[in-house]
Amino acid sequence: MSDAASEFDKMLDGFWPYRNSTQAYRQVPSEPIDRAAIYAEIASFAALEDAQGDKGTVSGSLYSGDHDHYAFLGEVFSLFSHANVLQRDMYPSATKFEAEIIAMTSHIVHGTGIGVVTSGGSESLITALYSYREHAAKTRGVTRPNVVIPVTAHVALDKGAHWMGIEVRHAPLTDSYVVDVAAMAALVDDQTIALVGSAANYAHGLIDPIEAIAELAQQHGIGMHVDGCLGGWLLPWIERLGYDVPLFDFRVPGVTSMSADTHKYGYALKGSSVLLYRDKELRANQYFTYPDWPGGLYLSPGLAGSRSGGLIASTWAAMLATGESGYLTAAESIMRTAVTIRDGIRNNFPEFEVIGDPTFLVAFKAAGDLDIYLVNDALKGQGWRMNSLQLPAALHFCITRPNTADGVAESFLVALRAAVEYAREHQGEPAESGAMYGFGGTPQGNATIEAMMSGVLDAMHEVAPAMPSA
Ligand SMILES: Cc1ncc(COP(=O)(O)O)c(C=O)c1O
Repeated sequence: MSDAASEFDKMLDGFWPYRNSTQAYRQVPSEPIDRAAIYAEIASFAALEDAQGDKGTVSGSLYSGDHDHYAFLGEVFSLFSHANVLQRDMYPSATKFEAEIIAMTSHIVHGTGIGVVTSGGSESLITALYSYREHAAKTRGVTRPNVVIPVTAHVALDKGAHWMGIEVRHAPLTDSYVVDVAAMAALVDDQTIALVGSAANYAHGLIDPIEAIAELAQQHGIGMHVDGCLGGWLLPWIERLGYDVPLFDFRVPGVTSMSADTHKYGYALKGSSVLLYRDKELRANQYFTYPDWPGGLYLSPGLAGSRSGGLIASTWAAMLATGESGYLTAAESIMRTAVTIRDGIRNNFPEFEVIGDPTFLVAFKAAGDLDIYLVNDALKGQGWRMNSLQLPAALHFCITRPNTADGVAESFLVALRAAVEYAREHQGEPAESGAMYGFGGTPQGNATIEAMMSGVLDAMHEVAPAMPSA
C-alpha cells in the first residue's frame, strides 16, 4: 500500500473503527432485526468504548464512572424516556422534577431559585446570551450588541454570538492566566450587553476574578454571567471542604446569571444543565409565546421543542441518589487526586509549568522547548487521554471520579516521566497530537488544521466511505 493510502486508511480507522467489522446501514433494513442481536452489538461497542474511561486514565468527559449509578439512572430514564414534557397535562411530574432541579442547583450556588433546565452547557450559555441581547435591546435600545468575555471563556459563547449577530470582544489574561479585568473595562461600550467570567474555565480550570468583573458590570449597569458549567456543581463542595475558593456565585451582587451543568459534576446523564437567573425579568427574555398559530396557543421557555421526560427524571434522581454527602465525598477524592497531580508536576517536573493556581483541573505547558504534543503522543501510547490545548500549547487533566481510584494519580506521574523522555528523544519530529477540542484520543492532530475542520464535521455525520482503490 502506498504511503498516501496507508495514511488515508489510518484516518478512516480514526473516524470509523467499525468499518471493517460491522455492517454499515445506508438504508433502513427491510425486515426488523432481532432485538437481542441489536442489543448485543451496541453492548459490545459500549464495553469497548467504556474500557479506557473505566481505568481512570481519561481526563474529564466521564464524571461519575459508577456503573451502578448509571444503571439506576438508566432505569429511571426508561420510565419517562418516551414522554414529551411539553405535554404537561399528561406528565405533570416533569414540573416537579424540573422545578426541584432548579431549586437544588440554585441552593448550592446561593441563587434566588429562578432558572431553566437546558440540554447542556452550550445551550445554557447561548440562551443566556440571547436573554442579555433581548434585554439590552428592550431596555437600552442596543442595536449593535457586543459581549465582553475572557479569551478562555467557553467557545460556545462565540458560537452563539456568531449565530445571533453579537460581536464578541475577547479580553486577554493576566500573568496568572485569569482574565485581565482592566482590559475588559477597556472593551466595554454603550452597546455591551453583558460581561462573562468562568468558574472555572475549560482550558485551565481557573476561576476568573468574578467579584471584580461583577463590579465592572454594575458600574456600567449591565449584567454578568458566570460560566459555572464545569465548576458549578463541584466548586461549592470544594469550598465546603475548606479549600481556598474565591467567591464565584450569586453571593457576588453583580452576578445576574450563572450556568451549572448537571450532566458534569452533578453526575446526571448527558443532556442536562441549569441556567440560573437572579431575577425573573431577565429570564422572561428567553420565553417565547405565539398566540396566533393555527397549531394552537404556543408557549415555550427555550430553544427545545419536544423534550424527553426521561432526562429530567433521571437528572432529579441523580441529585437525590448522590446527596450532599455523596457530592462532598466525591469532591474530596477529586481534590486529593488533583493536588497529587498538581504538586507532582510542580515539584518533580522542571520541564513543565502548571498554568495558574488550579483546583480540580490541572493544565500544564512546557517550561522549555519540549514539544508538549509529543508528550501527549507518548501519554496516548501508554493509554492516557489528556485534553490538548493551544495558545499556549498545553495539556490539561480534568479530574473526575474515575481518576480518583487508588494509584491512578501516581501512575499518571510515572507515565508523564516516560512521556518526557519520549518527547526529548523525538524532539523536532512532527507530533501526531494536536489541539482539537474533543479529539484528545484520535490520531488526527496537527494535520487537522482550520481548513479541514468543517470537513471533519462532515465526516462525523457520514457512513464510513469505501476504501480507495490502490
Ligand atoms: C467551562 C465550560 N463551559 C461550557 C461548556 C460546554 O458544555 P457542553 O459541552 O455541555 O455544551 C464546557 C464543557 O466542557 C465547559 O467546560
